[in-house]
Amino acid sequence: MSDSAATTRTEGEPLFEAFLNRHDHTAWREIVDSLLPAIHEVDRDATQIWFYFFPLALLRAFQQSEDPERLKRRLSVAGKFLLADQIDSSHDFLYGHRYWPHVKSAVSELAASANPASLDLATLILDITNRVAKRLNINTSLVTGITAVAFMTLQQTGAAAFNAAPGAVAKIPDRSPETIIKERSRDDRQGLFSFLQPDKIFTIRFSENDPDARFKLINSQHLTTAAANDKRDHYSRDQRCVIGEGPIPIECRSAACGTCWVGVLGGARKLSEVAALEWRKMKDFGYIDTDEPNPLIRLACQAQAYGNVSIVIPPWNGVFGKFLMAQEESSGQQPESSTL
Ligand code: FES
Repeated sequence: MSDSAATTRTEGEPLFEAFLNRHDHTAWREIVDSLLPAIHEVDRDATQIWFYFFPLALLRAFQQSEDPERLKRRLSVAGKFLLADQIDSSHDFLYGHRYWPHVKSAVSELAASANPASLDLATLILDITNRVAKRLNINTSLVTGITAVAFMTLQQTGAAAFNAAPGAVAKIPDRSPETIIKERSRDDRQGLFSFLQPDKIFTIRFSENDPDARFKLINSQHLTTAAANDKRDHYSRDQRCVIGEGPIPIECRSAACGTCWVGVLGGARKLSEVAALEWRKMKDFGYIDTDEPNPLIRLACQAQAYGNVSIVIPPWNGVFGKFLMAQEESSGQQPESSTL
């Protein structure tokens, strides 16, 4: 863990939570990076996306704020950003989500034990992974990502809330990891008479668990432009959605508001490369700081698609990158803009 993460235990804080709280965003980034080779391909990107969606540094800013409602307005936070409100559901786009009841119960058990087997968090995550995989008779790589998610969820929510969540998951279509990986790489067939069609037509999926969660896109359209042709009711699912504008929440369509951020589960390379404006704005918003031309996080109003793409829409949005950087600089630490 990083030096800045080494904090003392506060009075009354359970031992295991005190141990977890010694890990800040930098420590977690190292842990997740070290676990990536042990995570099955079906969940490797999904796990990283989940950690981008729920940055520890943002939660800490709210916990340290004297007026969280004011901070929320200042950072233009909209939607459900607290893990405490979605303990059993925030990770429903991971394949390992189906094993959540078992993972959650094993992590709860560990948190309650007086003597964890190790004081190295990555080792503990792998230990629980092995235990659950053995119990379910499945490959360990299928539960590594969801187990890392469970530890971070416990850290952000605290053991009382974590244990109190029912630990139930909605029914998920029974598909193998290989089938899902194949589907992500496939493009729609254009048909025998496609030469008569002016443009190729592709499919954008926005939930892999729901066969109806998809819309069509004309080759090279921006994701939000194509999404706007989906006139179904998305507002009742997510009240950030504009009625008649499709499933991706939007406000400006010009990289100015940060509302339309998405994770890319499949087909990142079938999207246009990130241009300078999108790069700069994603860093300012606090979503990602990377020089990757095809990163896992995108602004959907800036990304054009050239094939089938599978995305996941985060349950919230905000503008917090500059705020966190300023906060870190004033405390003399390294900026935290590149949160996991
Ligand atoms: S809609 Fe505002 S940044 Fe994309």
